[in-house]
Amino acid sequence: MTVPTAPDGAARALVGEVRTLVGDRREATWIVEHAEAAGLGVQGARVLARRRAAGEPLQYVLGTWPFRTLELRVDRRALVPRPETEVVVGVALDELAVLGRPGRVAIDLGTGSGAIALSLAVEARGGTDLEVWATDRSAEALALAGENVARLAGTDPAAAARLRLVEGSWFAALPAALAGRCDLIVANPPYVAEDELPGLDPVVREWAPRSALVAGPGRSGVAGLADVEEVLTGAARWLAPGGAVVVELAPHQAAGAADVARRAGLAGVRTERDLAGRLRMVVAHR
Ligand SMILES: C[S@@+](CC[C@H](N)C(=O)[O-])C[C@H]1O[C@@H](n2cnc3c(N)ncnc32)[C@H](O)[C@@H]1O
Repeated sequence: MTVPTAPDGAARALVGEVRTLVGDRREATWIVEHAEAAGLGVQGARVLARRRAAGEPLQYVLGTWPFRTLELRVDRRALVPRPETEVVVGVALDELAVLGRPGRVAIDLGTGSGAIALSLAVEARGGTDLEVWATDRSAEALALAGENVARLAGTDPAAAARLRLVEGSWFAALPAALAGRCDLIVANPPYVAEDELPGLDPVVREWAPRSALVAGPGRSGVAGLADVEEVLTGAARWLAPGGAVVVELAPHQAAGAADVARRAGLAGVRTERDLAGRLRMVVAHR
């Protein structure tokens, strides 16, 4: 018996059974609906419910999760893209819009699932000439991003064709010819300090790749800022004149990161907040 052919009463009973396992009616409904849509049947729904009951994030259990206009494949290879990063993309798109010329090159450093890069490729206005480069040091994360580009090719082949995935550490992944030519650099790098890990939500701490979360103190001495610093200092060399860098960070890092950006020679340095009003980004220009 599959869920779609089950009578209403049986589907309701299945939601009830899954709810007993996962402890939440909304999640139970999503799991049953997902099993139905994927043709997994009743047994498949029970397998998903047991994974969730064992503590796996709902997003990994379902295997896809919405991000802005996209439905992205997500699994243990990368961090689940988060609502604050949707705001980061909004700020980055605004920076492209005020550039005063059509953006030609946008970079997403540490792309993970590809959330930022794919959104830029889909949403940049007048972006038909925009190349979007997505990098990651993790081959597994990059493989997941590649699967998301392949999914995107089914619905928006023009946007998918704008994307280029490259493996490597921060700017070292990029072709040297892009130095000084990037209109936009966006990154959501690791920014959790080692000693902050125990305080993270266990669903994130135990399931997201550690390499997506943890960063060293950096030269400024601010906890967890090493990768943010690397992106900001590199941006001064890789941005085109007038180009913008937008980096996600934790609220307590914002002032220190703004100082790093100024010391790197960037101009128009400012911080931006997420929807909850917390300082979550530093933005700067060349
Ligand atoms: C916080 S996750 C962000 C993922 C994705 N951009 C998002 O917003 O959902 C950080 C990403 O940076 C990658 N990363 C960590 N160190 C890196 C490095 N040295 N060079 C490039 N990418 C790196 C991780 O593999 C991970 O995918």
